[in-house]
Amino acid sequence: MGPQILLAEHLTKRFGSFVAVDRVDFSLHEGEVVGIVGPNGAGKTTFFNLVTGYHTPDEGRVLFLGQDVTRASPRRRVELGLVRTFQLASTFDALPVVDNLILALFSRLHSGSDVRRLLATPRRRYYDDPRVQDALEQFHLSARRDRVVRHLSLGEKRRLEIAMAVLSNPRVLMLDEPLAGLSELEIHQVMDVLRSQVGRRSLVVVEHKVSHLLGFVQRLMVMHEGRVIAEGSPEECLKDPEVRRSYWRVGAESA
Ligand SMILES: Nc1ncnc2c1ncn2[C@@H]1O[C@H](COP(=O)(O)OP(=O)(O)OP(=O)(O)O)[C@@H](O)[C@H]1O
Ligand SMILES: [Mg+2]
Repeated sequence: MGPQILLAEHLTKRFGSFVAVDRVDFSLHEGEVVGIVGPNGAGKTTFFNLVTGYHTPDEGRVLFLGQDVTRASPRRRVELGLVRTFQLASTFDALPVVDNLILALFSRLHSGSDVRRLLATPRRRYYDDPRVQDALEQFHLSARRDRVVRHLSLGEKRRLEIAMAVLSNPRVLMLDEPLAGLSELEIHQVMDVLRSQVGRRSLVVVEHKVSHLLGFVQRLMVMHEGRVIAEGSPEECLKDPEVRRSYWRVGAESA
Protein backbone atom coordinates (compact mmCIF):
# COMPACT_ATOMS: atom_id res chain seq x y z
CA MET A 1 0.00 0.00 0.00
CA GLY A 2 1.27 3.50 -0.88
CA PRO A 3 1.58 6.49 1.46
CA GLN A 4 -1.43 8.12 3.04
CA ILE A 5 -2.98 10.62 0.65
CA LEU A 6 -6.23 11.70 2.33
CA LEU A 7 -7.08 12.07 5.98
CA ALA A 8 -10.37 13.19 7.51
CA GLU A 9 -10.36 13.68 11.25
CA HIS A 10 -13.41 13.91 13.44
CA LEU A 11 -15.57 15.29 10.64
CA THR A 12 -18.93 16.52 11.90
CA LYS A 13 -21.77 18.20 10.04
CA ARG A 14 -25.00 19.38 11.63
CA PHE A 15 -28.15 20.62 9.95
CA GLY A 16 -29.79 22.51 12.79
CA SER A 17 -29.82 20.10 15.71
CA PHE A 18 -29.61 17.05 13.42
CA VAL A 19 -26.15 15.49 13.16
CA ALA A 20 -25.75 14.16 9.60
CA VAL A 21 -22.06 13.24 9.97
CA ASP A 22 -20.85 12.49 13.46
CA ARG A 23 -17.10 12.57 14.22
CA VAL A 24 -16.05 10.49 11.23
CA ASP A 25 -12.38 9.56 10.88
CA PHE A 26 -11.24 8.30 7.51
CA SER A 27 -7.90 7.73 5.87
CA LEU A 28 -7.00 6.69 2.36
CA HIS A 29 -3.71 5.50 0.95
CA GLU A 30 -2.32 5.99 -2.54
CA GLY A 31 -3.86 3.38 -4.85
CA GLU A 32 -6.34 2.08 -2.28
CA VAL A 33 -9.90 1.07 -3.25
CA VAL A 34 -12.43 1.71 -0.47
CA GLY A 35 -16.19 1.23 -0.36
CA ILE A 36 -18.62 3.22 1.79
CA VAL A 37 -21.92 1.52 2.50
CA GLY A 38 -24.88 2.27 4.71
CA PRO A 39 -28.65 2.71 4.48
CA ASN A 40 -30.47 5.80 3.17
CA GLY A 41 -29.71 8.86 5.23
CA ALA A 42 -26.57 7.33 6.80
CA GLY A 43 -24.55 10.43 5.88
CA LYS A 44 -22.55 9.03 2.96
CA THR A 45 -23.20 11.90 0.54
CA THR A 46 -22.77 14.49 3.29
CA PHE A 47 -19.41 12.91 4.12
CA PHE A 48 -18.44 13.19 0.41
CA ASN A 49 -19.55 16.83 0.45
CA LEU A 50 -17.31 17.54 3.42
CA VAL A 51 -14.28 15.85 1.90
CA THR A 52 -14.71 17.46 -1.54
CA GLY A 53 -15.56 20.98 -0.35
CA TYR A 54 -19.31 21.27 -0.95
CA HIS A 55 -19.93 21.58 2.78
CA THR A 56 -17.76 23.05 5.52
CA PRO A 57 -17.61 20.83 8.60
CA ASP A 58 -18.76 22.10 11.98
CA GLU A 59 -15.89 20.16 13.50
CA GLY A 60 -12.87 18.28 12.25
CA ARG A 61 -10.52 18.74 9.35
CA VAL A 62 -9.54 17.32 5.98
CA LEU A 63 -5.92 16.85 4.93
CA PHE A 64 -5.08 16.08 1.31
CA LEU A 65 -1.44 15.29 0.52
CA GLY A 66 -0.61 16.65 3.95
CA GLN A 67 -2.23 20.00 3.23
CA ASP A 68 -5.18 21.26 5.27
CA VAL A 69 -8.02 21.71 2.74
CA THR A 70 -10.89 21.86 5.24
CA ARG A 71 -11.96 25.25 3.91
CA ALA A 72 -10.62 24.99 0.36
CA SER A 73 -13.14 25.32 -2.49
CA PRO A 74 -14.18 22.26 -4.51
CA ARG A 75 -12.31 23.74 -7.49
CA ARG A 76 -9.09 24.04 -5.49
CA ARG A 77 -9.42 20.41 -4.36
CA VAL A 78 -9.93 19.31 -7.97
CA GLU A 79 -6.73 21.14 -8.92
CA LEU A 80 -4.91 19.25 -6.17
CA GLY A 81 -6.28 15.95 -7.53
CA LEU A 82 -9.35 15.23 -5.40
CA VAL A 83 -12.27 14.65 -7.80
CA ARG A 84 -15.77 13.27 -7.35
CA THR A 85 -18.82 12.25 -9.29
CA PHE A 86 -22.33 13.06 -8.09
CA GLN A 87 -25.25 10.91 -7.03
CA LEU A 88 -27.30 12.83 -9.59
CA ALA A 89 -25.78 13.18 -13.04
CA SER A 90 -23.59 16.17 -13.87
CA THR A 91 -23.22 16.16 -17.65
CA PHE A 92 -24.14 18.73 -20.30
CA ASP A 93 -27.18 16.83 -21.56
CA ALA A 94 -27.88 18.97 -24.63
CA LEU A 95 -24.36 18.38 -26.02
CA PRO A 96 -22.86 15.32 -27.70
CA VAL A 97 -20.67 12.88 -25.77
CA VAL A 98 -17.47 14.11 -27.42
CA ASP A 99 -18.19 17.74 -26.46
CA ASN A 100 -18.72 16.73 -22.85
CA LEU A 101 -15.32 15.05 -22.84
CA ILE A 102 -13.70 18.06 -24.45
CA LEU A 103 -15.26 20.36 -21.86
CA ALA A 104 -13.92 18.12 -19.08
CA LEU A 105 -10.47 18.20 -20.64
CA PHE A 106 -10.68 21.94 -21.26
CA SER A 107 -11.69 22.66 -17.70
CA ARG A 108 -8.60 20.76 -16.56
CA LEU A 109 -6.33 22.71 -18.92
CA HIS A 110 -7.91 26.06 -18.05
CA SER A 111 -8.89 25.69 -14.43
CA GLY A 112 -10.68 28.76 -13.16
CA SER A 113 -12.71 29.19 -16.36
CA ASP A 114 -16.40 29.61 -15.81
CA VAL A 115 -18.99 27.45 -17.52
CA ARG A 116 -20.05 30.15 -19.98
CA ARG A 117 -16.49 30.55 -21.19
CA LEU A 118 -16.14 26.78 -21.49
CA LEU A 119 -19.31 26.49 -23.54
CA ALA A 120 -18.18 29.31 -25.83
CA THR A 121 -14.90 27.51 -26.50
CA PRO A 122 -14.37 26.36 -30.09
CA ARG A 123 -14.40 22.64 -29.42
CA ARG A 124 -13.79 21.43 -32.96
CA ARG A 125 -10.03 21.59 -32.69
CA TYR A 126 -10.11 19.18 -29.76
CA TYR A 127 -12.20 16.55 -31.55
CA ASP A 128 -9.13 14.54 -32.48
CA ASP A 129 -7.21 15.17 -29.27
CA PRO A 130 -5.66 11.83 -28.24
CA ARG A 131 -6.83 12.28 -24.65
CA VAL A 132 -10.43 12.53 -25.86
CA GLN A 133 -9.98 9.57 -28.21
CA ASP A 134 -8.45 7.53 -25.38
CA ALA A 135 -11.36 8.35 -23.08
CA LEU A 136 -13.90 7.32 -25.74
CA GLU A 137 -12.14 3.98 -26.20
CA GLN A 138 -11.31 3.28 -22.58
CA PHE A 139 -14.88 3.94 -21.44
CA HIS A 140 -16.45 2.09 -24.38
CA LEU A 141 -18.13 5.21 -25.73
CA SER A 142 -16.61 5.40 -29.24
CA ALA A 143 -19.88 4.27 -30.85
CA ARG A 144 -21.71 7.03 -28.94
CA ARG A 145 -19.22 9.80 -29.72
CA ASP A 146 -21.71 12.11 -31.49
CA ARG A 147 -24.84 11.20 -29.59
CA VAL A 148 -26.47 13.95 -27.54
CA VAL A 149 -26.14 12.97 -23.88
CA ARG A 150 -29.85 13.07 -23.11
CA HIS A 151 -30.30 10.20 -25.59
CA LEU A 152 -27.78 7.93 -23.85
CA SER A 153 -28.82 5.02 -21.68
CA LEU A 154 -28.24 5.52 -17.96
CA GLY A 155 -25.28 3.11 -18.03
CA GLU A 156 -23.63 5.01 -20.90
CA LYS A 157 -24.20 8.28 -19.11
CA ARG A 158 -22.59 6.92 -15.94
CA ARG A 159 -19.55 5.81 -17.94
CA LEU A 160 -19.38 9.27 -19.49
CA GLU A 161 -19.43 10.92 -16.07
CA ILE A 162 -16.62 8.71 -14.87
CA ALA A 163 -14.66 9.40 -18.07
CA MET A 164 -15.10 13.15 -17.51
CA ALA A 165 -13.83 12.85 -13.94
CA VAL A 166 -10.86 10.74 -15.05
CA LEU A 167 -9.87 13.28 -17.74
CA SER A 168 -8.61 15.54 -14.96
CA ASN A 169 -6.29 12.68 -13.97
CA PRO A 170 -7.11 12.80 -10.25
CA ARG A 171 -5.07 11.19 -7.49
CA VAL A 172 -8.31 10.35 -5.68
CA LEU A 173 -11.61 9.67 -7.42
CA MET A 174 -14.72 9.55 -5.24
CA LEU A 175 -17.91 8.12 -6.77
CA ASP A 176 -21.31 8.58 -5.17
CA GLU A 177 -23.50 5.59 -6.10
CA PRO A 178 -22.15 5.01 -9.60
CA LEU A 179 -24.31 1.87 -9.90
CA ALA A 180 -27.66 3.29 -8.76
CA GLY A 181 -30.56 2.53 -11.08
CA LEU A 182 -28.53 0.41 -13.49
CA SER A 183 -29.43 -2.99 -14.94
CA GLU A 184 -27.18 -5.99 -14.19
CA LEU A 185 -25.50 -5.62 -17.59
CA GLU A 186 -24.89 -1.89 -17.07
CA ILE A 187 -23.51 -2.57 -13.59
CA HIS A 188 -21.09 -5.02 -15.12
CA GLN A 189 -19.98 -2.43 -17.70
CA VAL A 190 -19.50 0.33 -15.13
CA MET A 191 -17.57 -2.03 -12.84
CA ASP A 192 -15.33 -2.87 -15.80
CA VAL A 193 -14.37 0.76 -16.31
CA LEU A 194 -13.87 1.22 -12.58
CA ARG A 195 -11.60 -1.82 -12.50
CA SER A 196 -9.53 -0.25 -15.28
CA GLN A 197 -8.80 2.65 -12.90
CA VAL A 198 -7.39 0.48 -10.12
CA GLY A 199 -3.66 1.09 -9.79
CA ARG A 200 -3.91 4.48 -11.51
CA ARG A 201 -5.56 6.36 -8.65
CA SER A 202 -7.24 5.80 -5.28
CA LEU A 203 -10.96 5.09 -5.47
CA VAL A 204 -13.73 5.66 -2.94
CA VAL A 205 -17.11 4.24 -3.96
CA VAL A 206 -20.44 4.76 -2.21
CA GLU A 207 -22.85 1.94 -2.85
CA HIS A 208 -26.00 0.55 -1.25
CA LYS A 209 -25.48 -3.09 -2.05
CA VAL A 210 -22.40 -4.57 -0.45
CA SER A 211 -22.60 -7.49 -2.86
CA HIS A 212 -21.55 -5.24 -5.77
CA LEU A 213 -18.39 -4.19 -3.99
CA LEU A 214 -17.17 -7.62 -2.93
CA GLY A 215 -14.07 -8.59 -4.87
CA PHE A 216 -13.50 -4.95 -5.84
CA VAL A 217 -12.82 -2.92 -2.70
CA GLN A 218 -9.95 -3.67 -0.34
CA ARG A 219 -11.68 -2.03 2.58
CA LEU A 220 -15.18 -1.07 3.62
CA MET A 221 -16.45 1.70 5.84
CA VAL A 222 -19.99 1.14 7.12
CA MET A 223 -21.99 4.22 8.12
CA HIS A 224 -25.23 4.38 10.06
CA GLU A 225 -26.94 7.52 11.39
CA GLY A 226 -23.90 9.67 10.67
CA ARG A 227 -21.42 7.42 12.43
CA VAL A 228 -18.89 4.86 11.26
CA ILE A 229 -20.08 1.61 12.81
CA ALA A 230 -17.49 -0.70 11.23
CA GLU A 231 -14.39 -0.53 9.12
CA GLY A 232 -12.07 -3.15 7.72
CA SER A 233 -12.09 -5.90 5.15
CA PRO A 234 -15.54 -6.56 3.68
CA GLU A 235 -15.55 -9.97 5.38
CA GLU A 236 -14.79 -8.45 8.80
CA CYS A 237 -17.43 -5.76 8.38
CA LEU A 238 -20.14 -8.16 7.37
CA LYS A 239 -19.48 -10.29 10.47
CA ASP A 240 -19.64 -7.28 12.77
CA PRO A 241 -22.63 -7.58 15.14
CA GLU A 242 -23.62 -3.90 14.89
CA VAL A 243 -23.50 -4.03 11.10
CA ARG A 244 -25.65 -7.12 11.10
CA ARG A 245 -28.12 -5.47 13.46
CA SER A 246 -28.40 -2.03 11.91
CA TYR A 247 -27.44 -2.32 8.30
CA TRP A 248 -26.86 -5.73 6.91
CA ARG A 249 -30.30 -6.98 7.84
CA VAL A 250 -31.73 -4.11 5.80
CA GLY A 251 -29.03 -4.37 3.12
CA ALA A 252 -29.38 -8.12 2.79
CA GLU A 253 -33.02 -7.80 1.86
CA SER A 254 -32.26 -5.51 -1.05
CA ALA A 255 -28.85 -7.01 -1.95
N1 LIG B 1 -28.66 20.24 3.07
C1 LIG B 1 -29.29 19.50 4.00
N2 LIG B 1 -30.13 20.07 4.91
C2 LIG B 1 -30.74 19.34 5.87
N3 LIG B 1 -30.58 18.01 6.02
C3 LIG B 1 -29.77 17.38 5.16
C4 LIG B 1 -29.08 18.08 4.12
N4 LIG B 1 -28.32 17.19 3.43
C5 LIG B 1 -28.54 16.00 4.00
N5 LIG B 1 -29.40 16.11 5.05
C6 LIG B 1 -29.86 15.02 5.92
O1 LIG B 1 -28.70 14.37 6.41
C7 LIG B 1 -28.89 12.95 6.47
C8 LIG B 1 -27.80 12.28 5.68
O2 LIG B 1 -28.03 12.53 4.29
P1 LIG B 1 -27.08 11.97 3.17
O3 LIG B 1 -27.59 12.49 1.88
O4 LIG B 1 -25.67 12.29 3.50
O5 LIG B 1 -27.31 10.41 3.29
P2 LIG B 1 -26.84 9.23 2.34
O6 LIG B 1 -26.17 8.22 3.20
O7 LIG B 1 -26.09 9.76 1.20
O8 LIG B 1 -28.25 8.64 1.86
P3 LIG B 1 -28.66 7.98 0.44
O9 LIG B 1 -28.20 6.56 0.51
O10 LIG B 1 -30.15 8.08 0.44
O11 LIG B 1 -28.02 8.75 -0.66
C9 LIG B 1 -30.30 12.70 5.93
O12 LIG B 1 -31.17 12.54 7.01
C10 LIG B 1 -30.61 13.95 5.14
O13 LIG B 1 -31.99 14.22 5.14
MG1 LIG C 1 -26.35 9.75 -0.82
